[in-house]
Amino acid sequence: MKDISISEDVIYIGVDDKTIDLFESQYVVPNGISYNSYLIKDEKNVVLDTVDRRATEEWIKNLDNNLDGKEVDYLIVSHMEPDHAYNIGLLCNKYPNMKVVGNDKTFNFIKQFFDIEDLDSRKVVVKEGDILNFGKHSLQFFMAPMVHWPEVMVSYEIKEKILFPADGFGKFGTLDTKEDWTCEARRYYFNIVGKYGIQVQALLKKLLGLEIKMICPLHGPILKENLGYYINKYDIWSSYKPEDDGVFVACSSIHGNTLEVAKEMVKILEEKGAKKVAFADLTRDDFAEAIEDAFRYDKLILAASSYNGNVFPPMEHFLNHLKSKNYQKRKIGIIENGTWAPSAGKAMKNIIDGMKEIDLCDNMVTIKSRMNEDSKKEMEKLADEILNK
Ligand code: FEO
Repeated sequence: MKDISISEDVIYIGVDDKTIDLFESQYVVPNGISYNSYLIKDEKNVVLDTVDRRATEEWIKNLDNNLDGKEVDYLIVSHMEPDHAYNIGLLCNKYPNMKVVGNDKTFNFIKQFFDIEDLDSRKVVVKEGDILNFGKHSLQFFMAPMVHWPEVMVSYEIKEKILFPADGFGKFGTLDTKEDWTCEARRYYFNIVGKYGIQVQALLKKLLGLEIKMICPLHGPILKENLGYYINKYDIWSSYKPEDDGVFVACSSIHGNTLEVAKEMVKILEEKGAKKVAFADLTRDDFAEAIEDAFRYDKLILAASSYNGNVFPPMEHFLNHLKSKNYQKRKIGIIENGTWAPSAGKAMKNIIDGMKEIDLCDNMVTIKSRMNEDSKKEMEKLADEILNK
């Protein structure tokens, strides 16, 4: 059973999507995703965000079932990405007297996505700190640029102390999924918002002065208890600090020999007492989870085959992706493999050089085709160095 209760006047009208293959056409979501949308019933009826095109029909039903035959007076547009904004045009047509609330950037984007002829007479432009009153309920707006698009704004309902943080505090998985929040929220955060840590930090600072009793994000469960736990996770993630003491071993192997090396490295690290060792085969395992684990732990070991005078592409893609997400403040060890002219190590170093505050281990391991006793000794040295033995 999903818990979608908020209060008498604030109603969840979002939709669970259990059949989507890839969220944003790139993320596997074994437990689907929710497109959250909310209705505040008051003297004026207010909808906070629409839903993805995949959920239109069910969302409209949810809205109609809760309006008691009344009209929608205001639509708040927190974020223009189509998983939330797709139905703005439809709602404007359905309720011709409805006002649309956004900031300057929101309306630039609305004009790009939709032709709403009378938009100029319907728009309500809000700025940082503005408050709109709807009867007993009022929303205060805070701009949150790049969390996750430039027009994003969050709102705070003053009477019930509810924060509507747009994509912030979102999570993969439908609302009826029984699973730990942190794992899928972390995978969501680093892959979707991870590049914008500075902007998330700025938003967290703005929210410091608010008393928040509930968090109603645009994806994932409504958060009602232990809010300090979630806010603390966001503080750690957005400041790029490692969350856990552990080593993540990421491997990119063509024929399996480098994979054997990486698995041996996992064994060596465990035998030497590493607190936690996580592993991913970048050629087959979920890429988004590998990105998540790289950020989660304080140490990273990369094991990759050489390829075309470079590094085998799954590793190149992984490192470039980490760099694009501002990966930093980690200790990294390198294992390369090559049969005639190993090139993977240099290629990996070149990408890592562009990252901030990386402590690169001196002991780089070079495997020639397959692991032997000498290479195991080198791997032991690298393990000692990365574990500070
Ligand atoms: Fe859930 Fe950035 O959209």
